[in-house]
Amino acid sequence: MRILSGAQPSGQLHLGNYFGAIRQWIDLQATGEGFFFIANLHALTSVRDPQTLRDATFGTACDYLAMGLDPQRCVLFAQHDIPEVSELNWILSTVTPMALLERGHSFKDKTAKGLRADHGLFAYPVLMAADILLYHSDLVPVGKDQKQHIEMTRDIAVKFNLTYCKDFDPQTGEGGVLRIPKPYIMDSTAVIPGLDGEKMSKSYGNTIPIFDTPKKVRKRIMSIVTDSTSLDDPKDPDTCTVYALLKLLCSEEELAEQRADYVKGGVGYGHFKQRLFERVEAHFSDMWTQRAYYQDHPDEVNAILEAGATRAREVAREVLDNVQSACGLR
Ligand code: ADP
Ligand code: TRP
Repeated sequence: MRILSGAQPSGQLHLGNYFGAIRQWIDLQATGEGFFFIANLHALTSVRDPQTLRDATFGTACDYLAMGLDPQRCVLFAQHDIPEVSELNWILSTVTPMALLERGHSFKDKTAKGLRADHGLFAYPVLMAADILLYHSDLVPVGKDQKQHIEMTRDIAVKFNLTYCKDFDPQTGEGGVLRIPKPYIMDSTAVIPGLDGEKMSKSYGNTIPIFDTPKKVRKRIMSIVTDSTSLDDPKDPDTCTVYALLKLLCSEEELAEQRADYVKGGVGYGHFKQRLFERVEAHFSDMWTQRAYYQDHPDEVNAILEAGATRAREVAREVLDNVQSACGLR
């Protein structure tokens, strides 16, 4: 079974990325062959400064390694090291209906805000489909916001297979050149809330970054928006963002204690935030140390990405050859 996913190097990775997606990648390394990549071609739609993109691509590789993606057990690579993806992107775009892309929420959100989208953002789901289909991926672990993109990928793969493979059966997915992937989304962590209670996202400026200095991480946690219930009064855990984040980091027993403190009153939001910081620190401090190691050993990191790209290209070449034969380019 092939498991594939990626994140854009468009800012610092945050708790939403980790609990919503990357933790599942780490767990799934034991289940099949994992392909995990840094989506720097996608990041071009928002990062316009070349040095920022270079640094963030390298930095995201350090983040992945520090979080526990193990190059002995999975393939780590940067998207732009695989030129095959750009060719598949084009071929897929020729079978992708405009109407499908017009429904895309990244594009719709931007235009709804009155911003003019560029072609890259409009066509983004096709590149994401190429990322997934190029490696015959079976399972794509992501947060809920990416569900629509995986559905589009499935639609595009079916359309290609129906157009070019006479034995393709859309019911079973058999007989096609492109394998039909499935999303893997954990209900309990599908949407992690940010500082303002909305979905945590780099583009909303409401994140708790994982690899900033402990001081800054604490400062962000202290700025989580809470209601104005006073210290002595009982508080509702189920509407509180601090509690939603504590849930990710506490054992069942610990969480029951936190819940009891919310309900009985006498503990202020500042205390709960401090407890959250302590748990974040306990969970991530080894990763902070690892991250500093990789940052200081760029040759090691670059060699891992190179080896990953070599392996990824082997698979990509074979799939692209079959695609080219199916549509008459070979
Ligand atoms: P961002 O929205 O911050 O730009 P990305 O789009 O790079 O994050 O997301 C990388 C991965 O992390 C994706 O699989 C995405 O679904 C997941 N993810 C991002 N934010 C969250 C969140 N708040 N809750 C759950 N999953 C998330
Ligand atoms: N679009 C994803 C995001 O913003 C990143 C991504 C690009 C991706 N290609 C992918 C995720 C392929 C999974 C599979 O989070």
